[in-house]
Order: sequence, then C-alpha cells, then structure tokens
Amino acid sequence: MQKVLLTGSSFTAPKDVINNEELVRSFNTYVQEFNRLNAEAIVEGKLEALKESSVEFIEKASGIKNRHVIDKKSILDPNIMQPILPERTNDQISLQAEMAVEAGKLALARANKKPEEVDVVILSCSNFQRAYPAVSIEVQAALGCKGFAYDMNVACSSATFGLQAGADAVRSGSGKVALVINPEITSAHLNFRDRDSHFIFGDACTAVVLETEKTCQSSDAFEILSTKLLTQFSNNIRNNFGFLNRTSPTTANSLDKLFMQQGRQVFKEVTPMAAKFILEHLSENHLNPTDIRRFWLHQANLNMNQLIAQKILGKNADPDLAPTILDEYANTASAGSLIAFVQYHQDFKSGDIGLLSSFGAGYSIGSILLKKL
Ligand SMILES: CC(C)(COP(=O)(O)OP(=O)(O)OC[C@H]1O[C@@H](n2cnc3c(N)ncnc32)[C@H](O)[C@@H]1OP(=O)(O)O)[C@@H](O)C(=O)NCCC(=O)NCCS
Repeated sequence: MQKVLLTGSSFTAPKDVINNEELVRSFNTYVQEFNRLNAEAIVEGKLEALKESSVEFIEKASGIKNRHVIDKKSILDPNIMQPILPERTNDQISLQAEMAVEAGKLALARANKKPEEVDVVILSCSNFQRAYPAVSIEVQAALGCKGFAYDMNVACSSATFGLQAGADAVRSGSGKVALVINPEITSAHLNFRDRDSHFIFGDACTAVVLETEKTCQSSDAFEILSTKLLTQFSNNIRNNFGFLNRTSPTTANSLDKLFMQQGRQVFKEVTPMAAKFILEHLSENHLNPTDIRRFWLHQANLNMNQLIAQKILGKNADPDLAPTILDEYANTASAGSLIAFVQYHQDFKSGDIGLLSSFGAGYSIGSILLKKL
C-alpha cells in the first residue's frame, strides 16, 4: 500500500474579530428593545420576556472569548444581527471560492507544490453557498488545478471525512495530489438572536495537501497512519435549509433554516461517543493514549474537550497535549481541529504521532492518526 502524506496545511480567518463583550452588548440591546416593545403582551402573559446573555456564561460554558467573522458591523447592529454579504455576479469569483483559493494557495506553497500538480480538489464543509456548479470546480479553475473536483458536506466532521476521501483517492491512484479545503462561513447559518447559541461560531477556512512520497517536496510532512470515521443519525444538531424550502412557502424562512441544537444533549451523548471512538482507533493501531504526542481535538466546547481528554488519558490534559483555539476563533465547524493542527505541530520530531479528530452533526465522528516523517 502506498503511504499517503499530508505535506502542507494552512488556515485563514477574516480580520474582523468580535469579542464576547461586544456580542453580548448587541444581543442585550436587542433583548431590552424586544421586551420594551412587547411590554404589554409580556405583562398579560401572552408573550415570554427574552432573557439577557452574559459574558461569564459564555466563557464558563464554552471557553469561547472571540470569533472572527466576515461582516462584524452588521452582526453587531441590533437591528440586523446577521452578516450582510451581497450576492456577486456569475462572472465574479464567489465568496466561498475566494476564501478557499486563499487557504488553498497557502497550503500548496507550504507543500512546495504548484496548483497544476494537483489533480483532486475536494471542498468539504458544513454549508455551500449554492447547489451547482460545485464550488470546488470553481476553485479548481481559479487555482489552475487539473483532474477533478467535488463538494462534500458532513457538517463539523467535513474536514476529517474530506481528508479520508482525499487520502483514499491518492492511495488508490485516482489522483496523485489532492487538495482538501474547508471554507466555513458559519456566521451566515447562525441565529444571532438565539441566546443559547449566538456566541458559538466563527468563520475560517483550512486546507491540506495530500500526496505520496513519490511527489513529496515538503520538509514538514506527516504520514497518514490511519483514518477512521463513524456516523450515527441524530436530530440534536440540525439545519433544515435546503432547495425544497421554497416549495413550502409558509415555513420557507422559519428559524429552523438556521443552525439549531440541543447543546446539553449533544454534550452528553457525543462526549462518551468520541472518547470511545478515539480509544478504539488507537487500540486498532496498537497504540496507547500515552503514545500520542498531541490531540488536535474538534473545537466546539472547551469543557467537552477536557472531559474527552480525561476519558482517554485518565487525567487532565494540559494545553500542550490538547491545545485549544476556541478562545480566539470559537467553533469554526469542520475547520477547528485543523486550525489547532496548523498552529500546533511545528515542535513535532520525526516519529512523533498526533491524533486529529472531529465530532458534530450527523452525528459524525472522525479520527486521523498522523506521524511526523
Ligand atoms: C451550547 C453549550 C455551550 C451550552 O452550555 P450548557 O452548559 O449546556 O448550558 P445549558 O444550555 O444547559 O444552559 C444552562 C443555563 O444557562 C442559561 N443560558 C443559556 N444561554 C445563555 C446565555 N447566552 N447567557 C446566559 N445564560 C445562558 C440557560 O438558560 C440555562 O439556565 P437554567 O439553568 O436557569 O435553565 C454546551 O451545551 C455545548 O457546547 N454543547 C456541545 C455542543 C456541540 O458540541 N455542538 C456541536 C456543534 S457543531
């Protein structure tokens, strides 16, 4: 079997940052105004008063302190509370493709690869801005890559599932060099008026280059030792946006066409599932948790990651063993664990093994074992 290598990785995030204080101020202004306008109905018991959000809750419950977003101004405007991203003409590069091209170029430069050497382009993320043509094909053309491209979506596990798809393509010989990109514009699927989730997401894009030793010209390569994926259906994280929405005009714009979750339920169910899955993956590869130099865990919730690390290791994990990027970037859906990888792998020595994982909507879980060459 051909060894597949990860030879370049990158992430990009918008420059605009919203901190918790700014987000909560905007949310609470909206709540106060809503309650003021509906005071009568609230007093009469016809309507429930909205509750304010708090910085303390957000930090304690999630570990999130900031998020990078494409359009800070509109999100923070209590009269808008969503990004405003004007539609471009069909002659212009689409927003999501533009984001992917930037991260893709960076990953290719780090892998010492020219775009024309790439013959598989996979865009894998939680939301695509259109049905077709596939955004990946636009990215393939914009970069000047060869071969074929396709889009895929496994929500928060899109990066690990995309990584396995790219690695399988390279291993089987259906392509020589794969570029897998995860452009996550999560701010556009978030309900910034929902107290339970308004703080969760941030925008970012990650990219990786996959190839064999034959073509590798990277001094920063990792062998993909093994990949393992799992899905199990759950409605606890759901978004009903889709092409059939317009065929049901009365519900076309209702709030279930945005991200919704039973956060507490997800926490309870996914934490043991992810820990068990990672332990199984290690055992199948005759590895102990202590053989792992670093865990680049999915970045949805700090408490969840601490619990997963504790279940795997039997002790608390320090940030060197299980780093977090949640404080700066929040939950960037599938991009999170790869951002952690991009930021925290430079100290790896030849032979060191790390584990990259994802867990989220589906449910979906992914685990990738990476060994530094
Ligand atoms: C979303 C999440 C951070 C919420 O944290 P939590 O500790 O579960 O919080 P809960 O929803 O149980 O709410 C606890 C209390 O805080 C309150 N609360 C909720 N949002 C609040 C806010 N923004 N500000 C202040 N209080 C808030 C709730 O009303 C509740 O109050 P109560 O106890 O009086 O009823 C957490 O459940 C989570 O991250 N789950 C995993 C999600 C995940 O991984 N999803 C994958 C997404 S891709």
